[in-house]
Amino acid sequence: MNLYAERNATIGTENAFKIGPHIAGLEARGHTVIKLNLGEPDFSAPQWVKAEVIRQIAADNSHYCDPQGILSLRRAIARQVSATRDLDISPDRVCVFPGGKPSIGFTQQIYCNPGDEIIYPSPGFPIYESFIRYVDAVPVPLHLREEENFTFTPEQLAALITARTKLIILNFPSNPTGGVATPDQLQAMADVIQARCGPEVRVYSDEIYENIVFDGRAHASIASMPGMESRTIISSGLSKSFAWTGGRIGYAVLPSTEEAAAFKNLNINYFSCIPPYNQEGGREAIENPLSAPWMAAMSQTFEKRRDMVLAQLNAIDGMSCQKPGGAFYLFPNIAGLCERLGALEAYGNLPDEIRAQTSPSTLFQMFALYHHHLAVMDRRSFGAIGAEGLHYLRLSIAADLDTLEEGLRRIERAGRDIEGFQRFVAAGVNQF
Ligand SMILES: Cc1ncc(COP(=O)(O)O)c(C=O)c1O
Repeated sequence: MNLYAERNATIGTENAFKIGPHIAGLEARGHTVIKLNLGEPDFSAPQWVKAEVIRQIAADNSHYCDPQGILSLRRAIARQVSATRDLDISPDRVCVFPGGKPSIGFTQQIYCNPGDEIIYPSPGFPIYESFIRYVDAVPVPLHLREEENFTFTPEQLAALITARTKLIILNFPSNPTGGVATPDQLQAMADVIQARCGPEVRVYSDEIYENIVFDGRAHASIASMPGMESRTIISSGLSKSFAWTGGRIGYAVLPSTEEAAAFKNLNINYFSCIPPYNQEGGREAIENPLSAPWMAAMSQTFEKRRDMVLAQLNAIDGMSCQKPGGAFYLFPNIAGLCERLGALEAYGNLPDEIRAQTSPSTLFQMFALYHHHLAVMDRRSFGAIGAEGLHYLRLSIAADLDTLEEGLRRIERAGRDIEGFQRFVAAGVNQF
């Protein structure tokens, strides 16, 4: 008898958390690591949000509460999502979760039977792909194209839809590419979905970066396209918008109250409810008039950093980077750099069992970390299926300008350090 159930071997992970111990080990040995691997804003949550949480705890608002989310927060979410998507959403279609993440797995559990196909963006947030085999569904990666600025064409989507398609995951602005679809592109996707999918096929639209958009854009949701509200799960949360990743407040707007009740029941089964004092903090974040200018200022800071980092990355020999329209990541193509360092050849020479767990961009990631003390994320961390031959890195710009400048110097240096790379490969450790 085995200790672990078989399904345990089918779930993936989020490498942004996995790389933490490597960084901690280097720091414990006295190295200063430049961390451009982080998926959280380097700001503090607004003071009025923190004050409200403290006030609620002092008032003893620390007991069990509505598993669907407290009504005051669901009302605030319903009003805000209705206003920003031009919809009319009632609070009983809202379900609150501990962060934006849980609804990804819950959606797959609630809607998908074994054998159902799930279309998801690749590169994309790793938890989309991670869960699919765990629920016995079939992963169908939708490869975002660099030449389309990391969006995709309606034809690409149409080619992946079959009679078994049950769920289509979208994420704009995107992690890890910062890609943003225009309203016209969203409309074209909506047209394909309505033409090719039955009414029971769901779109999971992950809009967690909705408040971090650049170049004067306004966030657009596929749920706002005619006919799409009844098919779309709008997922968002306060982690990124309010630099409040530890508050663990996320939510989804479901197409119907019955579907919201199904999510509520999973909440009951997994964790009963989310701390009510944090939920009141979330309500304050959404309702306080100071929040909109606060988010706009954060977004402008990210936009300035994007401009600086983009220009410098594109000046590095062997790298080229598209201009992200939102979120706080850059996703340069490093094919030239991998070639110069000999990473493609080194990867080809690895033993099969190591090659299966790494890639040329992973080798560069680990080399940059161990030899140049720079933490970034590799392409494989954002969906491994069909990622062979794709050489990219994700750099987070959730760091101040001095840190970003130093990170760019290190990446440039690592990209020229052919000899150091050969030593790294010869040592045969930390290759994935
Ligand atoms: C696209 C995307 N969706 C969901 C999440 C999860 O957010 P949370 O920390 O609120 O669970 C993240 C976090 O990095 C993300 O990038």
